[in-house]
Amino acid sequence: MCGIVGYVGDQEAVPILIGGLAKLEYRGYDSAGVAVLQGQKIEVRRSVGKLANLQKSLKEKEIAGAVGIGHTRWATHGKPSEQNAHPHRSKSCVLVHNGIIENYQPLKQQLEREGYKFHSDTDTEVVAHLIDKHMQKGLGLADAVRAATKEVRGSYALAVISEQEPGTLVAARLGCPLVVGRTKNASFVASDVMAMLAHTRDVTYLEEGDVAVVTASDVRMTDVEGHAMARKPSKITWDAADAEKSGFPHFMLKEIHEQPQTILDTMRGRYSYETGEADLPDIGLTPKEFAAVDRIWIVACGTSWHAGLVGKYLFEDMVRTPVQVDIGSEFRYRDPLVGKRDLFLTISQSGETADTLAAAREAKQKGARVVSIVNVVGSTLARESDGVLYTHCGPEIGVASTKAFTAQLTALYLMALHLARVRNVMKEADGKAWLDRLVRLPVLVESVLRREAEIVAIAKRYYKKRNFLFLGRGINYPIALEGSLKLKEISYIHAEGYAAGEMKHGPIALIDRDMPVVVLAPRDRLYEKTVSNLMEVKARHAPVIALVAEGERELGKTADAVFTIPETHPLISPILFTIPLQLLAYHIAVLRGADVDQPRNLAKSVTVE
Ligand code: F6R
Repeated sequence: MCGIVGYVGDQEAVPILIGGLAKLEYRGYDSAGVAVLQGQKIEVRRSVGKLANLQKSLKEKEIAGAVGIGHTRWATHGKPSEQNAHPHRSKSCVLVHNGIIENYQPLKQQLEREGYKFHSDTDTEVVAHLIDKHMQKGLGLADAVRAATKEVRGSYALAVISEQEPGTLVAARLGCPLVVGRTKNASFVASDVMAMLAHTRDVTYLEEGDVAVVTASDVRMTDVEGHAMARKPSKITWDAADAEKSGFPHFMLKEIHEQPQTILDTMRGRYSYETGEADLPDIGLTPKEFAAVDRIWIVACGTSWHAGLVGKYLFEDMVRTPVQVDIGSEFRYRDPLVGKRDLFLTISQSGETADTLAAAREAKQKGARVVSIVNVVGSTLARESDGVLYTHCGPEIGVASTKAFTAQLTALYLMALHLARVRNVMKEADGKAWLDRLVRLPVLVESVLRREAEIVAIAKRYYKKRNFLFLGRGINYPIALEGSLKLKEISYIHAEGYAAGEMKHGPIALIDRDMPVVVLAPRDRLYEKTVSNLMEVKARHAPVIALVAEGERELGKTADAVFTIPETHPLISPILFTIPLQLLAYHIAVLRGADVDQPRNLAKSVTVE
């Protein structure tokens, strides 16, 4: 996730671009850059780190001009560096990009054969050279952009300028947000409307496949073939202060609602329908090496550890390989028996968690191959691992992890599928069936999110309680743990997650009418047993909140509140059960007046022991 801006008008572009980028820093902040048409020439300036570094550089040596583009980066391909920062230049054009070009490798090889020199490790630079190639053949900027977008596969929001067409900016969108804004004498382009709210509230959102030809006096929308497209302008009426959160009251809620997109982004370009396989080229182990693995270790902390626990159920079921899951802080001090033929998987949103890092270093020292599922590109864990599977879900600002967790689960599904296929324990047809289920996930998640009002109603009934119990079984036991962690960390209510069958061995003593019990009850082979546990709870007068699969009737009669989850394969259900639990924790915390995005005593990245 990156942020892009553009300006064509009658004012100095740099302050407008910088002002816009400041509003987009939440989308990424590992480097930033601008390109401005100064006289006849486009000047590019880029800096690593926060936007302040770019501002300093622009203060030391100014760039003047009224046409420009800007970018704030959150690395996906290529580490954070000045070279990899946007804008990227080819001979006749300069561009900024948000998104991922999936087929950049074959395109790059082809362009290199044609004589193009690459100056970065990014996927974006191929787009600049492709556009240049079409301009060299005689196409105008807009036509060249359209031609290039037809050749790329993946997702993009682009803003492109050229010395050959000084007053024009061309913007294009597929799979990434993009909006244009107008005033009497100027036009604006941005990934998010908040980047232009200081100047205009008259905006038009690009739709998938749109190309906008932007000048100071107008914006023309076309499709990728150049046919004019009518797009309805909107007037923004909400307050600029709310804008960073796209109208959501908290980052956490915004991130919960981003999950259909982030699950999709984590899967994008990583599977093949033809073969029923997951395609994970950066994972650092060849299929042969994967096939030879004796045992899998998964080590992580907090929410990421819960993802690891789900991974155990997945790998043991799909790959038929033993899996040992550990908490980072426990693993590092017990001289664990990791072997050279073991696969050591760490999971971390930040890639900087001290305990997880220490575990990875220990495992490496013992000769294991370390593969990591990480969100932050270029983080220490990513750099020190033999292979990385990035979750591509953009910066997570809310301290309580939400979208990173479901992206980690998505990455685990892909990895389990990959391992199952290379180890020959899953047939091609079954691989395809798995892909079908995974591809449907974002739509199912969206359908759960649309029913948020039902969760608000449940939150209103129980937010004053002081203790909660969360029960789950099998692959949804870790989700009970995650539901209870979410609730305790943002609402400060005491909550426990338990394996449902374990309740009778102790926690049942706590149960009374003041302790709501959240039960996860998918229609799987453990269903009857979960129902029995629920009856035990009911007999002790506790209010029961049941999360059940569609079509469920029995529990509806017994439970005090019911939320239904769309029908899916039991192994996929954890993602669907997670969403209402995140929403429940969020709404309870809001009703209690807690600081949802920055809960007391917590930090987003725990770099100490
Ligand atoms: C809880 C939460 C933490 C993190 C944990 C590990 O909502 O965010 O429990 O999951 O601190 O952090 P990462 O994933 O960055 O290693």
